[in-house]
Amino acid sequence: MNFECIDVSVEESIALVTLNRPDKLNALNAQVLNELNSAFTQLATQSQLRCVIVTGAGPKAFAAGADIRELQECTPKSGTDFAERGQSIFQMIEDFPIPVIAAVNGFALGGGCELAMACHFRYASPNAQFGQPEVKLGIIPGYGGTQRLTRLCGPAMAIELITSGVMISAERALQCGLINAIVPSEQLLDACRKTALSIASMAPLAVRASLKAIRAQAHGNGMDVEAREFAELCGSHDFHEGTSAFLEKRSATFKGQ
Ligand code: COA
Repeated sequence: MNFECIDVSVEESIALVTLNRPDKLNALNAQVLNELNSAFTQLATQSQLRCVIVTGAGPKAFAAGADIRELQECTPKSGTDFAERGQSIFQMIEDFPIPVIAAVNGFALGGGCELAMACHFRYASPNAQFGQPEVKLGIIPGYGGTQRLTRLCGPAMAIELITSGVMISAERALQCGLINAIVPSEQLLDACRKTALSIASMAPLAVRASLKAIRAQAHGNGMDVEAREFAELCGSHDFHEGTSAFLEKRSATFKGQ
């Protein structure tokens, strides 16, 4: 896949998507969003893929938010399109059928924090800083931040961060459940890859079904989806293989069937 503002590579069934505007701290302009949209649309068709990692180029930032130069042009009318475009692309990431891990290697501010939160879980380097500083610009988060931050960390934390615009450290982000782990900067991508490879070695249909059931909680029908997915998997080749391999004390060979 050839893009200008992002890089996409695939190795051992793991895709790495890198925001690549380090001189602008990987700020999310319209082109970055369009390229993310195309990249995830194309990656969704690659059935051999097992996990995606999203990160930012350079040592300073995952992404320092929506591009403020473009943002400044928003009017009440175009503001709707601006927010809905970002919301729909980030929703596609949240709805992605296989796990998406954010490797947060520096600032994750505004739309950058919202992108990290649209990923399924996050590892961060010790220098990562998180925040929703939109109030400083006279606006609020528009790419799902009010909803996902509230879901992840609770309303009290969301209200503190969104109304004060304060940046928090990786340590505090860990305490409030925004990230899963802090990993030394030079090991961050390897740690994400290690988890991604572990996911890749599991039964593929079960991994996808896990995401469907967990996601269904937000729609209030989680138990129904869990029971349905569980039942369907009981008819799969990989269920037979996984249970037989355990009982025969050997490694399972999954086929994704
Ligand atoms: N949109 C557009 N450009 C941005 C940007 C953004 N969100 N964030 C950073 N940049 C650009 C800067 O304008 C600068 O470009 P220049 O070299 O052409 O002047 C470059 O990235 C480096 O940023 P700089 O501010 O010089 O780095 P810093 O280390 O001094 O500060 C931040 C880092 C993250 C604290 C600061 O860049 C910042 O506050 N960015 C905006 C964060 C924000 O409000 N995001 C929410 C947007 S809705």
